[in-house]
Amino acid sequence: MVAQIISGLAVAQDVKERVKMAVEELKSQGVMPCLATVLVGDDPASATYVNNKQKTAKELGIATRDHRLAATFGQDELLEMVKLLNSDPEIHGILVQLPLPKHIDEFTIINAISPLKDVDGLTPYSAGMLQNGMALLKPCTPSGVMELFDYYNITLEGRDVVIINRSNLVGKPLVFMLLERNATVTVCHSKTKDLPARLRQADVIITAVGNRQRFTLTADMVKEGAVVIDVATSRINGKLAGDCDFDAVRQKAAWITPVPGGVGPMTIAMLMKNTVAAASVSRGISAERHAQGKAKDTARDPCKTRRPFGTGR
Ligand code: GUN
Repeated sequence: MVAQIISGLAVAQDVKERVKMAVEELKSQGVMPCLATVLVGDDPASATYVNNKQKTAKELGIATRDHRLAATFGQDELLEMVKLLNSDPEIHGILVQLPLPKHIDEFTIINAISPLKDVDGLTPYSAGMLQNGMALLKPCTPSGVMELFDYYNITLEGRDVVIINRSNLVGKPLVFMLLERNATVTVCHSKTKDLPARLRQADVIITAVGNRQRFTLTADMVKEGAVVIDVATSRINGKLAGDCDFDAVRQKAAWITPVPGGVGPMTIAMLMKNTVAAASVSRGISAERHAQGKAKDTARDPCKTRRPFGTGR
């Protein structure tokens, strides 16, 4: 078996086209969607991510604010900045790029973001809503993974999914999104015993380790016909790669994401989608439906993705 490629580039393009249309619609109603990004310090990878988020927002007609702060910026000052962004009516989405410098407590900062502007889906409010199947704003990378499953009509019900990651950004939100689809979910991490044996049982593997010295997903760990989603980015001899020994695993899997061009482009596309959703909520219509608990995901989604291969739900 040779796996079919899951093209995050194609799916992200589809999502972005829908976001662009939703932005135009909002503008015609007098709402100018606006995303504020905050970057503390000079980590080159984080700067690249934020640059790409800013660039994509502009391409889609979303207004942006770009706050670049010195690595020495204090926690209290950062809290003040978040509060100012919370109370600015022109801003619909706030993204504080992670990781933050060590002297700043990430939970304190993320917890200060207004849930209505939490386009990263990382506040405790958003996490709780996600657990209850009621979230409007969901973490971008896991949402992007779910969008890929849906686009390619990859069913999850009753399937054994193994996630290698337990972070708030990826592993934990994925658990709730997958349970919502009736998958059976196992979360593995650095202390998991006999990881290869668990992986060999999996119908779907979602790997997000990002350190090829510590872990490589090799073909012997993959069941024939499995779906392999590689969320990681690392470098091998200067070349961008994921966790997966791609060429060998492709000979066994049914579906596989490449790196680059797999999950990566989805994260930014979903951030744009969340920004438009937050801007729509600011208009009041969706917010009311949301508060009444009547808003099902599809009804609240202002830029629902086209699914040429069926709904997959
Ligand atoms: N750092 C790596 N991924 C992310 C993300 O999705 N959101 C934020 N805020 N920081 C990140």
